[in-house]
Amino acid sequence: MDYQQQINVPMSLPDITDKEREAVAKVMATNYLSMGPYVKSFEEAFCNFTGAKHAVAVNSGTAGLHLCVLSAGWHDGDRVITTPFSFVSSTNVLLYERITPIFVDAEPLTGNIDPVQLKTAVTDLMTSETAAAKWLPPKGDHGGELKGILAVDVFGQPADYDGIREAAEPYNLPIIEDSCEALGAMYKGRHAGLLGDMGVFAFYPNKQITTAEGGLVVTNDDKAAAMVRSLRNQGRAEGDTWLEHTYLGYNYRMDEMSAALGTVQMSRIEELIRNRQKVANWYREELADIDAIELPHTAASTTRDSWFVYVIRLKEAERRSEVSAKLKALGIPVRPYFSPIHLQPYMQERFGYEPGRFPVTEDLGRRGLAIPFSGKMTREQVAAVGSALRQIFG
Ligand SMILES: Cc1ncc(COP(=O)(O)O)c(C=O)c1O
Repeated sequence: MDYQQQINVPMSLPDITDKEREAVAKVMATNYLSMGPYVKSFEEAFCNFTGAKHAVAVNSGTAGLHLCVLSAGWHDGDRVITTPFSFVSSTNVLLYERITPIFVDAEPLTGNIDPVQLKTAVTDLMTSETAAAKWLPPKGDHGGELKGILAVDVFGQPADYDGIREAAEPYNLPIIEDSCEALGAMYKGRHAGLLGDMGVFAFYPNKQITTAEGGLVVTNDDKAAAMVRSLRNQGRAEGDTWLEHTYLGYNYRMDEMSAALGTVQMSRIEELIRNRQKVANWYREELADIDAIELPHTAASTTRDSWFVYVIRLKEAERRSEVSAKLKALGIPVRPYFSPIHLQPYMQERFGYEPGRFPVTEDLGRRGLAIPFSGKMTREQVAAVGSALRQIFG
């Protein structure tokens, strides 16, 4: 058995201590497994950390995004601009409401939505159907009016919100920020999640903090917060009784065990982000001399990167399967990341997308490889990944 196989590097790991275990056990010993005090303390921790006026915990990032879409008032027949270089949820929440997603390609360095193309798209879509035509999907429902922008902070780095705002403001388009991968990141000194009108975080176990499953909406908008709060709780508005439902709502509530776990995780947030930064720094040192790969780029506007995944790009896309197989054989799991949304089978079927439509997204999709990453990785594990890559690339 060789060195890499012995080291057995996991793809990702949550960072859980006895404090988290004790907090969850304490909830289990009470009668408040749902709608108790921990959800409130978890939400308060987010207001304190990000400076948001409102924080509303939900049971997944996808649920949070869905509630933001509903609370923005976007609906059946609307158009919303988003990015094809993301996890599918950011587009799916539009499809849930029969909104037509209009894709704008990514910019190559960070993989975030390209603000220059975005501005052209908004202008074209707002001025004439002839100009709008080139942004519409090849087939399927083309929707009607452009109602807003759903941007994504990819891999823990905020998109360019000055550019996004410049595109949105002339038409008062609301911006939803999918910050599911970027808790703790900063754009020009401001917290991710608060860079649009509403922002969403997610807490699956590979994220910066975990609640097992969970998500949370932040906003400074009183009305939006009240709507999200109501819709997560079966449409009960403030003052409604248990069986009164002002709106058509959902059960998107977070339970108390998750909130207890999350509250302790939030008390450790700076430590957790620091540990992830340390591992990312080790990777940079370890991989800098491998010519066949490109390392992640941090934009000047990112005043704090909050590492979610570590995605390298192979210079030669055609080698990715061979490299992945060799790494796996050496005990190192990897994932292609992301797989372009417009080329997912259901999207091709519904909207007729073919390869070639969004070249930057497709290029990143072909060359990107997420390598093992968590704040618990050791220097030896990072070195093992480095030596495996060096061995493969000679
Ligand atoms: C960019 C992005 N958006 C949305 C989500 C959805 O979060 P969840 O899995 O909690 O529903 C994720 C989760 O991985 C994500 O990475």
